[in-house]
Amino acid sequence: MTKAPDTSRDHLSEDELLALLDPELLPRHIAIIMDGNGRWAELRRLPRIAGHAEGIKSVREIITLCRDLDIGALTIYAFSQENWKRPANEINALMLLLENYLQTEMNELTRKGARFRAIGRVDTLPSGALSWVRRVERETAHLDKLMLNVALSYGGRSEIVDAVRRLAEDVQAGRVQSESIDEAFLEGYLSTHGLPDPDLLIRTSGETRISNFLLWQLAYTEMFFTPTLWPDFRRREALLALLDYQKRERRFGQVPDAASQGGR
Ligand code: IPE
Ligand code: IPE
Ligand code: MG
Repeated sequence: MTKAPDTSRDHLSEDELLALLDPELLPRHIAIIMDGNGRWAELRRLPRIAGHAEGIKSVREIITLCRDLDIGALTIYAFSQENWKRPANEINALMLLLENYLQTEMNELTRKGARFRAIGRVDTLPSGALSWVRRVERETAHLDKLMLNVALSYGGRSEIVDAVRRLAEDVQAGRVQSESIDEAFLEGYLSTHGLPDPDLLIRTSGETRISNFLLWQLAYTEMFFTPTLWPDFRRREALLALLDYQKRERRFGQVPDAASQGGR
C-alpha cells in the first residue's frame, strides 16, 4: 500500500520548517541518489541534458543547506558505473557539465568551506573532467566545514572489490595479519573511510532502489524516498526530508529503550 503524502506542513514557510528542526537530531552524514533529471526535462519537452543542468541548482542549494545546518558530510551520486551504458551524447554532455560545474564552482565551494572529493573509479573519466576533479580536490583539501563526496563512475560492489583487492595485497606483503581484519578495518579501505555512515539516504524521482550506491555504508541508514524529481528538490524539500528523518526511531537491532540510550 502506498503511503499518502504528508500534507500537514504544506502551509509552513521554509523558516517555520527550519524552526521545527531539532538541532540535536540532525544527521551527521546525508547520502543522495539524485534521480529524475531526464524525466524533468522530458515533461518540459526539453533535451535530457537540460534536466541535468537544472539539477545542478539543486546540488548548490543542498550543499548550502548542509553547511548552514552544520551537517558535516554529504555524499551525492552523480554518475554510476552503469551510467556508462547510456548513449554517448548524453555521457559527453554530462562530462562537460561536470567539468563546467567544477570550473565555475571551485571558489564557491572554497568560500563555503566544503572539501570536495570524488569517489568511484574516477580514473575512467575523460581527461578534461578528471583534471578538474583532481584540481578541485587539491584546492579544497584543507577545508573541513563540509565533506562533499561526489560519486563518479561509482559502483558499490566495485568499491568493495577494490577495497578487498588492496587489503589482499597488504596481507600478501605481510603488512596486515588476516586475523586483524574486522568490519572497522575493512571500512578503512573504503572511499568514505573516516566518515560516519550516512544517517539518511534520500532518493528522488519515485524509484525505491539503491542502484549500487554505498552498499556497505547504508547498512543501518534511514531511507527517504520522494516522488519529487531531482531538479525540483530544493531547500524546502530537503527540510521536509530532515523533519521526516527526525520522526524515526533508530533501533540498530536493539529493543527501543536501549536504542534511545545507545543510538545516535
Ligand atoms: C539522474 O537523472 C542523473 C544521472 C543518472 C546522471 P536521470 O538521468 O537518471 O533521470 P531519469 O531517471 O531518466 O528521469
Ligand atoms: C542512479 O540513477 C545513479 C545516479 C543518480 C547517478 P539511475 O537513473 O542511473 O538508476 P536506475 O537505472 O534507475 O536504477
Ligand atoms: Mg534515473
